[in-house]
Amino acid sequence: MPATVSQAEFDRLWNQVEPIGRAASGGYRRFAWTQPDLALREWFAAACAERGLDLTVDRAGNQWAWWGNPDDAGPGVAIGSHLDSVPDGGAFDGPLGVVSSLLVVDMLRREGVSPARPLAVVNFTDEEGARFGVACGGSRLLTGALAAQRALALRDDDGASLAEALRAAGRDPEELAADPAAVGRVGCFVELHVEQGRGLVDLGRPVAVGTAIWGHGRWRFELPGEANHAGTTRLADRRDPTLAYATLVLRARDLAERHGVLATCGKVRIDPNGVNAIPSLVTGWLDARGDDDAAVQAMVADFAQAVAGFGGTLAEESWTDRTPFDTGLTNRLHAALDQAPYLPTGAGHDAGILANAGLPTAMLFVRNPSGVSHSPAEYAEPADCLAGVQALARVVAGLVG
Ligand code: GLV
Ligand code: MN
Ligand code: MN
Repeated sequence: MPATVSQAEFDRLWNQVEPIGRAASGGYRRFAWTQPDLALREWFAAACAERGLDLTVDRAGNQWAWWGNPDDAGPGVAIGSHLDSVPDGGAFDGPLGVVSSLLVVDMLRREGVSPARPLAVVNFTDEEGARFGVACGGSRLLTGALAAQRALALRDDDGASLAEALRAAGRDPEELAADPAAVGRVGCFVELHVEQGRGLVDLGRPVAVGTAIWGHGRWRFELPGEANHAGTTRLADRRDPTLAYATLVLRARDLAERHGVLATCGKVRIDPNGVNAIPSLVTGWLDARGDDDAAVQAMVADFAQAVAGFGGTLAEESWTDRTPFDTGLTNRLHAALDQAPYLPTGAGHDAGILANAGLPTAMLFVRNPSGVSHSPAEYAEPADCLAGVQALARVVAGLVG
């Protein structure tokens, strides 16, 4: 196993990805099946071709680049992550795992390693769910956790359905389906990801091994009102749903504290969104997470009651149970990486979806000095990125034999 990957090698790949989909804010807007996402998919295909990997796209739209034939010598080892982003997201959430995985292939190749088990680098589609609302859409579809019929009908904020978005991107929506054959090619999956908290800063280590993902979900709530004139409608005569919304944001915070979970109202839509009109409808979104599934569900049940008290309705968009990673694989990573610390996470990942589908799955986290993520301030030091590649290479070398 080579001792290092050079900074120049890392930068070369990183600099290819970095400008794609960057907004004026400095953050990224790389939403599923939009132009930046398509450019990133093309970049991924070209980077894999450059490495002589065989690219396949599964029926859920995820890209897999295989070194070796998993149908002959599989199931294989998969590494990788995603390339899409949240609105104004950071540069590292997703791309760090994909770039690091490609560099691991380079390191193994340079050493003349010929893997006894096939190795894949994967780019999961629509991990953030920023456009169509369901997080980890690509891996959920792949494993059957999200039905194709439901997915195709999901709509973005402009009203375009996933079916329409796929057609616009030159894909056939009829093809969208779970893909057990693609899942069957994977014997285990290791996702490297930037850490999204300050665990490693406090521990003074560059890389950690993930233990579990908290239970987490998203809910949409609708609060109806009555549109009317801002200057002629007496206060007593108004049905203004923003008042209910404001109260509910505070209620979510209060309930989160009471149940010992996290709750966030990070997205809202006001219709018709005119400065001089009382809104006719407020649509809000609740993100809730915690280490204890029952506590999260209890918090959401209380919140649903509060929504109903304002004449509103609440619907679940996605839910994932607390997901522990494979103990055998996790312990193996910990041992291979000089007793790297263990860390749980409150962030969702495709690794969690694959783990729930029964695949042995693990994660590596790379230190993030500020702990900030889903923001342009997200960061990892160059030396830590290299340490991450190194760690992943060591792990993969052990897994492919
Ligand atoms: C994805 O990053 C999530 O945790 O929402
Ligand atoms: Mn993310
Ligand atoms: Mn991510």
